[in-house]
Amino acid sequence: MDIIVTGSIAYDYLMRFPGRFTDHLLKDQLHQVSLSFLVDDMTKHWGGVAANIAYNMALMGLQPHLMGTVGRDFPDYRAWLEKVGVNTSTVRQIDEVFTASFFANTDIDNNQIASFYAGAMAYARHYRLADVFDGHPDLVIISPNDPQAMSNLAAECRERGIRFIYDPSQQVPRLSGDELLRDMQGAYALIVNAYEAEVICKKTGKTLEDLQQAIDILVITHGARGSHIYADGQLIQVPAFPPDIIRDPTGVGDAFRAGLVRGMVSGWPLHLSGLVGALCATYVLEHIGTQNHYFTPGQFVARFRQHFDDEGLLDVLLQPAV
Ligand SMILES: Nc1ncnc2c1ncn2[C@@H]1O[C@H](COP(=O)(O)OP(=O)(O)OP(=O)(O)O)[C@@H](O)[C@H]1O
Ligand SMILES: [Mg+2]
Repeated sequence: MDIIVTGSIAYDYLMRFPGRFTDHLLKDQLHQVSLSFLVDDMTKHWGGVAANIAYNMALMGLQPHLMGTVGRDFPDYRAWLEKVGVNTSTVRQIDEVFTASFFANTDIDNNQIASFYAGAMAYARHYRLADVFDGHPDLVIISPNDPQAMSNLAAECRERGIRFIYDPSQQVPRLSGDELLRDMQGAYALIVNAYEAEVICKKTGKTLEDLQQAIDILVITHGARGSHIYADGQLIQVPAFPPDIIRDPTGVGDAFRAGLVRGMVSGWPLHLSGLVGALCATYVLEHIGTQNHYFTPGQFVARFRQHFDDEGLLDVLLQPAV
């Protein structure tokens, strides 16, 4: 099974400021802001939407191909992904630049000032699937990336008749209604959170019903309230999986997608696929960072069965990787 996950691959630099940003933003000085916050703590994490999805897919026993562009600081990240079972032969390294990086500083009120450096991601538009992968993939996931790259990849999937999932999430604010409509055309599934679904409807002038009719499988996630899957004119409601502790919600959406797709490619019912996505998301919720959690297939299945009945279908996960 050849699954190609395309999208951002990034480093996340997370800092904590032991004060309040608002104490330093002086109302009468906003025309000449020059501030430096001395932070107590900084951690560097593996991140990027495509890499997060691929990491979780690998934990779920798939061997996805990760497609994206990275910079000269990528070798240690590549080694990490390969070790867990992600195929990175489809990643292209551009030595003149750094890998995309997210720098976030959070204060004691959880206010955040962040910057995202696109770096090597801006080169993604220069690569077609055919440039990095020989043959016809079974499924391509188009996740947030350089916007032009996302459009190109969707067009290539349509031209070549490749089944694809459109996952625009963080790029929804950047894309126009026309771009969104064009890129989702022909998608096998569209996955967004509730807020993004609303923005898409506003930008495109379509209703949720219009989207349901245009796309075979429409998935809308609702955070702690779970997710809604619309398929064949039916609404399938999927609850969230109860977390033991909540540490950091970053990356839950990516993990949910990995689990959901794991189920879909295995031919499991959509409700079960959604629940598998929900448990994957819960592991991320319980850890700080998007790839700092780990589970074996055995642990995953045992935990799943504490709450839900899979009628034995998850036994597949206990067999060797596909
Ligand atoms: N507080 C929570 N408790 C349990 N499960 C959660 C919680 N928040 C999210 N999830 C799980 O993760 C799934 C996706 O969550 P959400 O809708 O918040 O995605 P998102 O907004 O795309 O997240 P992000 O972009 O931050 O990764 C939910 O359907 C649910 O299964
Ligand atoms: Mg999201």
